[in-house]
Amino acid sequence: MLCLGWFSALAMALFSLHFLQSLCFPYFWKDFVFLWSVVRYGVRLELFKLTSRVCTVLDRFIQQAHRIPNKAFVIFEGRTFTYKDVELRSNRLANVFLHKLDVRKGDCVALLMNNEPDFICVWFALAKLGCSVAFLNTNIKSRSLLHCFSCCGAKTMIVGADVECVDGIISTLVEDNIQVWSMSGQCRNTQVHSLLAHVDAASDKPVPAILRAATSLKTPTLYIFTSGTTGLPKAAVITHLQSLKASGGFWAFGVTHNDVVYIPLPLYHSAASLVGIGGTIELGATCVLKKKFSASQFWSDCRKNNVTVFQYIGELCRYLCNQPKTELDKVHRVRMGVGNGLRQDVWKEFHRRFGKIQMCEVYGSTEGNLCFMNHIGKIGTVGRSNFFYRLLFKYDLVKYDMKKDQPMKDQFGFCQRVKKGETGLLLSKVSALSPFFGYAGSKQLTENKLIRNVFVKGDVYMNTGDLMAEDHEGFISFKDRVGDTFRWKGENVATTEVAETLGLLDFVQEVNVYGVAVPGHEGRAGMAAMILRTGLTFDGNKLFKHVVTDLPTYAQPLFIRLQVVMETTSTLKQQKFQLVESGFNPSAIADPLYVLDYQQNSYVPLTDRIYQSIVCGERKL
Ligand SMILES: *[C@@H]1O[C@H](CO)[C@@H](O)[C@H](O)[C@H]1NC(C)=O
Repeated sequence: MLCLGWFSALAMALFSLHFLQSLCFPYFWKDFVFLWSVVRYGVRLELFKLTSRVCTVLDRFIQQAHRIPNKAFVIFEGRTFTYKDVELRSNRLANVFLHKLDVRKGDCVALLMNNEPDFICVWFALAKLGCSVAFLNTNIKSRSLLHCFSCCGAKTMIVGADVECVDGIISTLVEDNIQVWSMSGQCRNTQVHSLLAHVDAASDKPVPAILRAATSLKTPTLYIFTSGTTGLPKAAVITHLQSLKASGGFWAFGVTHNDVVYIPLPLYHSAASLVGIGGTIELGATCVLKKKFSASQFWSDCRKNNVTVFQYIGELCRYLCNQPKTELDKVHRVRMGVGNGLRQDVWKEFHRRFGKIQMCEVYGSTEGNLCFMNHIGKIGTVGRSNFFYRLLFKYDLVKYDMKKDQPMKDQFGFCQRVKKGETGLLLSKVSALSPFFGYAGSKQLTENKLIRNVFVKGDVYMNTGDLMAEDHEGFISFKDRVGDTFRWKGENVATTEVAETLGLLDFVQEVNVYGVAVPGHEGRAGMAAMILRTGLTFDGNKLFKHVVTDLPTYAQPLFIRLQVVMETTSTLKQQKFQLVESGFNPSAIADPLYVLDYQQNSYVPLTDRIYQSIVCGERKL
């Protein structure tokens, strides 16, 4: 009796403690579990440093290929490729690269392929030889493509069977001593060599393991191109450290080896390759790879393949919500989405339409040294910070002057932290625990991304270029992007790159590129304010032709605004803030406006009717 009384008293006490805890610290356990995962993963990485024996993502893959050889690794267009299949095919390719292409440990090789299993096989084959791999964006146009080779020093390029954009620049590449090898059986161009015959004849025995051995976490393993804030694309250096951190993402969110992950994003971006493929390997799970995202096929693909987890960007979820409703909308096994850029309105609509799917927002750039993960699942936020998180990740939000387009300084020249709830520029401290590896090629590019003497003399922070806010509960949300890039259709657009391209036209004297918000669309639509050369007139056809030949679709400016004078800031930078704010409404703007028209192959005057059809979502952008 006594014993029972004591027991119930204890139960009572525990219960009230639990009740108190959930009242005062409602996120305690979720925070705790999440931080515990982060710390455990971090300790594992630190151990690599101590022992100089790094277990890379590739090593992990080879382990899995021995442990679960017959498990489906990639499903692509209805065909299943097991862990063993990919292991053997990448061995064959490695043997061909070693003996026929003469690539050596330490070389950088460029990869220009769309999503397909061979993307992964070629990538791993090169990694097995100790090469670093540069992933090229298949939308990229010739001028930028040539530039990419010079930044990472690649002398060999492997091209996917279905990639056509190289035709125009083959001779330039060959002149630069770059070997071009294609995965297709026969090549239209005689300067392109075919790999297929060699691959079929090659041995599937592994190449010596010593070739792939990595001794440091800081060795570059990939180059992933991101839009530069200054002109052409920049090659972000991805070391083993970053690829291992990214491959732990799914695991930290609670994805397991039983899950089937749908990857509709391009593999040449870090989300699909590092988080998606890397994360699948880490768990020994299965992924369904999609050549190109299709809103109409998305759910049927998920149903057919029993998909449980998918990767997204905000735009993708919006496109899914814009699809016609069907009674099958909630018939699927998807339980989780992992990605970024999901806006609150779309998030809610997505839940209404497709059921309670846990959406896990991840914030972090390819090259960045900071990452937030929304482990609580609160709508509209990218993550939650707390005392412990701040011990692991040193970041700050500082006041930002939108008009001058730079951080505000106090009388001593230092930045000022914003108050809780206020929006500020996110800076992330560069330190030994969170190093910043910067970009290949030019020191200046890396330096431009850094801010020094932020709070005290001598400190260094990475400028994320993102305006964020942190509320009283520590929830962090994304507000806007500053500086010289904006996002459109899931890609970063570098305003200077677009401006430089437009500046090549004879009738353009000066051009200022920025992004304007369009209702119902993620990111910002490109707009170019132009001053014409005296005596010359605006030529919409010529501009159209120039833009579609030299810029990838997402970077082609949708709107043109002709100006007489271009305003600059006090530091003589082009004034963008007011232009961005004034938008593209022809009845509110006196300057002549034009709009990109793919039907007429031209830029045509932006009338009120066209404006209305854009705003109400009738006109497809
Ligand atoms: C999906 O699950 C069902 C029921 O468990 C099973 O019959 C079917 O074979 C699975 N499909 C695939 C592609 O795994």
